[in-house]
Amino acid sequence: METKLITVADASDYPRLDAAAAILREGGLVAFPTETVYGLGANALCDKAVRSIYQAKGRPSDNPLILHVADVTDFARLAAEVTPLAEKLLTAFCPGPLTLVVKRSLLVPDAVTGGLDTVGVRIPDNAVARELIKRAGVPIAAPSANTSGRPSPTTAQAVLADLDGRIGAVVDGGACVCGVESTIVDCSGTTATILRPGAVTREMLTEVLGKVDLDPALTDAAAVPKAPGMKYTHYAPLAPLYMLEGAAEKMAAAFQDRLLKAARCGQRIGVIASDEVIASLDDGVLAVSYGAQGCAEEIAVHLYACLRYFDDKPVDYILGEGIAETGMGLAVMNRLHKAAGFKIVAID
Ligand code: TXA
Ligand code: MG
Repeated sequence: METKLITVADASDYPRLDAAAAILREGGLVAFPTETVYGLGANALCDKAVRSIYQAKGRPSDNPLILHVADVTDFARLAAEVTPLAEKLLTAFCPGPLTLVVKRSLLVPDAVTGGLDTVGVRIPDNAVARELIKRAGVPIAAPSANTSGRPSPTTAQAVLADLDGRIGAVVDGGACVCGVESTIVDCSGTTATILRPGAVTREMLTEVLGKVDLDPALTDAAAVPKAPGMKYTHYAPLAPLYMLEGAAEKMAAAFQDRLLKAARCGQRIGVIASDEVIASLDDGVLAVSYGAQGCAEEIAVHLYACLRYFDDKPVDYILGEGIAETGMGLAVMNRLHKAAGFKIVAID
């Protein structure tokens, strides 16, 4: 199959989205930009279309999909009830990088929920995404547009690297502004629980709700996560990744020390770290910067490109620089820990 590339720079290009909307309505797959990462969209109301998402990605069938809608009215159609808790979250953060897990309405097919009685729904804060959903006229089921287990794509080119020839079209709307997937909050009961951290941070949620829990699986590798997808290895680069974690001011010395030891053993190391740490390393070290030290928002934007960076380079393993798990840092470190398969080295 030839994958069409549809470029949308601004609103004057919106008519080009009709071709993508037609593919979606006919049961095909279209990758599209959101503020978090690129999604691989299908008509959520068509079982066959939804099943083809699992096929294209090689995704386990027990891992439910997030539905994308253009506004609160369409959100309400997919939820059995918009509870006061969901209402608060919708008012404070939507459109935005937040997925609400709610009890599902009869409209939601079993194929998208993996048999759960809840559904994850979000309203993306990306005008191209909302315009595509409106033109398709149906809710769009969309996981991240990567092959299962690989880092999520934040550009159309990264989508094509995984899925060229396997999907109907890619809408290129430029690079994603957040860089990591939406925060998932379970609000199907009376209290809220974060199932996956993202750009709507724990601190922001606490300010609005007073109290928000963290799924224990986010801090305890042995606990079973409530978001089925969180149990799979994810975001992994091809070479093994080890995370160095500890005080920022000790990072440069910790990297220098390990690079020296590796060089003595003839090992080739890739480094994913801050500008500050990389500036302190010898010339010739294979390194990619994720941004300024400790700046979690900037690091999130570059994170998945950094995780893909060494895939075509001759490295035996990769060393990554950890950051504090506060604010957006919780989402960044959640992805890095999973990418590293929890291979964490404490430096102090
Ligand atoms: O930012 C995002 O959320 C992106 C963009 C494309 O919108 N999408 C995304 O989808 O990250 P995906 O499929 O890569 O991750 C969806 C996660 C999985 O961990 C899945 O298990 C969880 O959401 N999930 C979906 N429905 C759920 C439900 N009813 N209850 C608990 N977890 C759910
Ligand atoms: Mg994903």
